[in-house]
Amino acid sequence: MIEKQINSSVQIFESVDELPKDIQSLMHQAVEARNGAYAPYSKFKVGAALILENGAVVKGNNQENASYPSGLCAERTAIYAAGANYPNQNIKAIAITATSEKHDVLEPIAPCGACRQAIAEYEQKQDQPIEIYFTGTKGKVIHVKALLDILPLAFDNKFL
Ligand code: THU
Repeated sequence: MIEKQINSSVQIFESVDELPKDIQSLMHQAVEARNGAYAPYSKFKVGAALILENGAVVKGNNQENASYPSGLCAERTAIYAAGANYPNQNIKAIAITATSEKHDVLEPIAPCGACRQAIAEYEQKQDQPIEIYFTGTKGKVIHVKALLDILPLAFDNKFL
């Protein structure tokens, strides 16, 4: 048996104001997306904005359903919209933000496992890392330089 360490690093910004200007703008677009979320059940609204290599921004938000599992997270709504509408454009970065009508969201909200898997597919498809920035309603922003930094030992098409 050998033990192996899996390392990844994240960058933590004190607030959106500390981000590079282009990412601040992307985060503001994620907030716009968040405002349009359809989250009548959880009251937890998430917005995601992706920037493509041609500069286009694609937004998504969570879409809930009375049949709960039929709903979809913001990140997948956004990345599938990008995949559908810009199939040949690489995705450079994703900004994610969340808010709740029930409590303050002061911690960065990381993408769920299913969304990480979905984003990983596109990272592999384009063979270029996708940067992820995530935050709450205010406060710190976490940045990772590639999706795989938060999905070690990912399952991908090499196994098929
Ligand atoms: N949600 C997202 O949109 N993204 C995530 O990564 C985590 C959770 C949504 C799904 C559901 O509408 C609500 O947040 C509560 O789980």
